[in-house]
Amino acid sequence: MRLRIAIAAVLLGLAAAMPARGDPAAVDAAALARIARPPLGLPPVPLPADNPPSAAKIDLGRKLFFDRRLSHNGTMSCAMCHVPEQGFTNNELATPIGVEGRGLRRNAPTILNIAYQKRLFHDGRETALETQVISPLLASDEMANPSIGYVIAKIAALPDYAGLFERAFGAGPTIGRLGQAIASWERGLLAADAPFDRWYYGGEAGALSERQRQGYDLFIGKAGCARCHLIGERAALFTDGAFHNTGLGYHADEVVARTTAPVPVEIAPGRTVMLDRAAVESVGLPPRTDLGRHEVTLDPADLWRFKTPSLRNVALTAPYMHDGSLRSLDAVVRFYDRGAVPHEALDPMIRPLGLGEDEVAALVAFLESLTSADIAALIADARSAPVGN
Ligand code: HEC
Ligand code: HEC
Repeated sequence: MRLRIAIAAVLLGLAAAMPARGDPAAVDAAALARIARPPLGLPPVPLPADNPPSAAKIDLGRKLFFDRRLSHNGTMSCAMCHVPEQGFTNNELATPIGVEGRGLRRNAPTILNIAYQKRLFHDGRETALETQVISPLLASDEMANPSIGYVIAKIAALPDYAGLFERAFGAGPTIGRLGQAIASWERGLLAADAPFDRWYYGGEAGALSERQRQGYDLFIGKAGCARCHLIGERAALFTDGAFHNTGLGYHADEVVARTTAPVPVEIAPGRTVMLDRAAVESVGLPPRTDLGRHEVTLDPADLWRFKTPSLRNVALTAPYMHDGSLRSLDAVVRFYDRGAVPHEALDPMIRPLGLGEDEVAALVAFLESLTSADIAALIADARSAPVGN
């Protein structure tokens, strides 16, 4: 009897020490565990020496990420363009809408597995997660704050942030610490252990269907995808971290922007009418050019080059490409099959592929095998953020 009570007491004690899923402590512990030991298929997480992760930083970063009060007029949080339920991007809009309805020029990338990206943004203009946050906080079409000092003063005055920066850093809010907290949270968003990983790295022969295996063969063979979307021996990020010209930027700037032909306008789902181009541009924003990597380096060779995105979880992150112009994986595969947009600066690794219908379907099926088994847990963990707004 006494023993039974003792065992029960030990079990109760254990249960109390291991908080239930959804509890901030459990969520932070899970994120720290992922960072220390990434899921199957991912390499070790690079960590900056001056910002090692901690539970308190991750907790604070998650709260900041979901806080709409970080935008000038209190309407826009980071999570509204990087929506957990939409692959940590935005599935509805080719290019997102920021504060006061201002449209952005580029598609919002997913922040899943962002810990591995050495260059951030489609043009790679930023190199550290810690400093990347400054750009959306200030961009007039994103969160539109007048200055960094303004954001920090605002956070410092919010009662629900009292003591949180001190707990994480031993000192009060600054932009550096805000960036370190959000970056620490983002680094825990590791999503792999997909059917592909279990098949390729885990030796589970049945994890991929026959069609997906056919897609893999095409991916590394005839279709040449793995020349830029790399698969390593022990881990795969499905990107070379480099910049390539697939012709989409060229097409928008040199072909579409110079034509006077009528434009198709979707007036209701599935109902398109052709309208006079000048009339459309008189009510909308004029087309904005996007020179890609060239805008950062000013090197003519970088014109219309964009960063190779990872393809992990790509089935969840439509629409695709830097401008969100391709709506489905089927459309992306057919785009490559046509040889993308042929022009003189097209990347030499891109050429017409001559795929059959079954080969297109197999490549799409392979891309669908890259969806992590951990997505539901990552969404639930993200949404457990205390929302004080
Ligand atoms: C209005 C929509 C919007 C908001 C709000 C927003 N982002 Fe983004 N985010 C984007 C877009 C669009 C890009 C790509 C921009 C580019 O390449 O020039 C991006 C890029 C990023 C990237 C780089 C991804 C990559 O693959 O290179 C990170 C990280 C990121 N955002 C995090 C954040 C954080 C943190 C916040 C809040 C402080 C935030 N975003 C707020 C739309 C948004
Ligand atoms: C020359 C290098 C290169 C090759 C070869 C290549 N890609 Fe890409 N891929 C890129 C770049 C660069 C982008 C981003 C283009 C942009 O943003 O406009 C991209 C974008 C994508 C995207 C969109 C991802 C997203 O999140 O928007 C998918 C899907 C994709 N590629 C699949 C493939 C497949 C399938 C193949 C083989 C048929 C392939 N790629 C071959 C470089 C390449």
